[in-house]
Order: sequence, then structure tokens, then C-alpha cells
Amino acid sequence: MRHLMNPLDFTTQELDRLFDLAGDIEHNMAKYAHACDGKILATCFYEPSTRTRLSFESAMTRLGGRVIGFSDAGSSSASKGESVSDTIRVVSCYADICAMRHPKEGAPMVAMEHSRIPVINAGDGGHQHPTQTLTDLLTIRSLKGSLGGFTIGLCGDLKFGRTAHSLIHALMRYEDIRFLFISPEELRVPDYITEILKDKKIPYEEITSLEDAMPRLDLLYMTRVQKERFFNEEDYIRLKDFYILDTSKMELARPDMLVLHPLPRVNEISVEVDSDPRAAYFRQAQYGVYVRMALILTLLELV
Ligand code: NCD
Repeated sequence: MRHLMNPLDFTTQELDRLFDLAGDIEHNMAKYAHACDGKILATCFYEPSTRTRLSFESAMTRLGGRVIGFSDAGSSSASKGESVSDTIRVVSCYADICAMRHPKEGAPMVAMEHSRIPVINAGDGGHQHPTQTLTDLLTIRSLKGSLGGFTIGLCGDLKFGRTAHSLIHALMRYEDIRFLFISPEELRVPDYITEILKDKKIPYEEITSLEDAMPRLDLLYMTRVQKERFFNEEDYIRLKDFYILDTSKMELARPDMLVLHPLPRVNEISVEVDSDPRAAYFRQAQYGVYVRMALILTLLELV
């Protein structure tokens, strides 16, 4: 039985197969409408979510399956003190596959160890968010044509942003990728990640100016400052509007650059950018459904 905890759990060949399947789903949706008839997905979300939970629910429903679950810890037995390991033992009796989001790093891993069904990490604290990374990789592959041979700027909260952490890990395995990490001093990429880049001799630069970065980028991955992971509110207030991507900054970028964002957006991308053809973040959300459909089929061994 396979789970998904980390974007590196799949080899690049397995990811290619997953993305090919997602591409077939995109173009032949009707073919998959009954692929999960009789199957149940449990969404166990101990932390807020719109896209991740609803895209999982949409994915399972489009495959003909059904969905059960909870969307906040307060409405589950966690509020009575039940452990994640007990919860997953029980959920294993009710569902065929589980997507779990938790504010504590490693919680989905604990669930996996006690589970009789495949568990998908749908975001664990400030650690990893592998299904967002699958979404990001599929978006890049579909819109840019390949995964490799580009300069990507990741901008914003690179310290707490789990989507950035997972994406950096995943992209390290592809050829000819250069990273520009654009963040305030306090929100830099954690050392444990830059150490790996140094070891693997993958080129990266850390800078604070988004304006300076813009002309150099093939892709810009904007992120929200992660309010819920700050220890004090003053720091959050000071840093939250450090970067605002607007049309004047977009003028500095290449005509074929793409802007991605895992969403939700707060202020970091001004709404005027939405109508720029290079703004790809809503298309990215659509790819999130196709890739989760492909993932459910793969983990349930239905392909
Ligand atoms: C992200 C998350 O939950 O980490 N959202 C998402 O799943 N698309 C990004 C964020 O909350 O900033």
C-alpha cells in the first residue's frame, strides 16, 4: 500500500506517469466518471482549507466516488482529546483512502503508520504540502512544456510556507533549474533546504528586491505571509505587505513569464494583475483537480 507524505515519495518517472494520466483526465473526463464507483474518500482536516479540501472532494466526486470527513478539528473527536493514531484506525474502517491536513508537522506521518488505507498529506504545519506541489508541477509542465531549463523565483514567506518548501524539494530533481529566493531577511528559506541545494550544487540566490528579480524570471511563485505560524502579531503586521505584485512590476517581466500562486491570496498580488495573460494562478487551481483525480486512482491502484 502506498501513501503520499512528501513530494519525493514518487520517482520522476512515476510523476511523469501521474501527469500523463492527469492530462488524459483533463481531455477525456467522461471516461473516468465511474472509475471510483463504490469508493469512499475521507477528508480529515484539522486546519482551514478551501482549495485543497474542495479539490479533493471535487476529484473524488468526478471519479464517481463519495466523500466523508470533517473540516475543522473542533467538530471532530480531536476536541475530546482523541489522538490522530486512534482517529485514523477508525477512519480506516469507514473509507478507502484519506486526505489529512494538520497544523502539526509530521501528524499525517503518524496517521500513515497506523492506517489500513492510503493516507495523503494535505499539508502538515510549516513542513510539506505534496499535493500542492503535484499541482504546481503539472501546471508548469502543461503551460511551459517541460519541467526543467528555467529560472524560478519564489517570493514571500519562504520560512513558513510549506508549498514553497515542497516545491523546492521537488524541482531539485530536474535539469537546469535556477532558484531565486526573494524574501525579507526574517522569512528566508530554512537552512536545512539551502544546505541540500549547496550539496547538490544547484544554483540559488537569496535577494530581497522583487523588482531586481523580475526581468530574470521564467516563473514567479508568489506566496502569502503565513499569519497563523507567527509567534507575534507585530512581526506579521510589519511583514505582511512587504511584496505586492502589481502591473508596474509586471512590466519588468518577460512577455512569456508565468505567475503562479498556491492561493489564498491576501495582498501580495494586486487584483489588477489577474487580467494579465501571464497570471496563471486560477488555471493552476484547475490543474489541482486533475492531478488529485490521477493521484486517487494511482493510490487506489485503479490504473
Ligand atoms: C496553501 C497551504 O495551505 O499551505 N494553500 C493551499 O493549499 N493551496 C498556501 C497558503 O495557505 O498560503
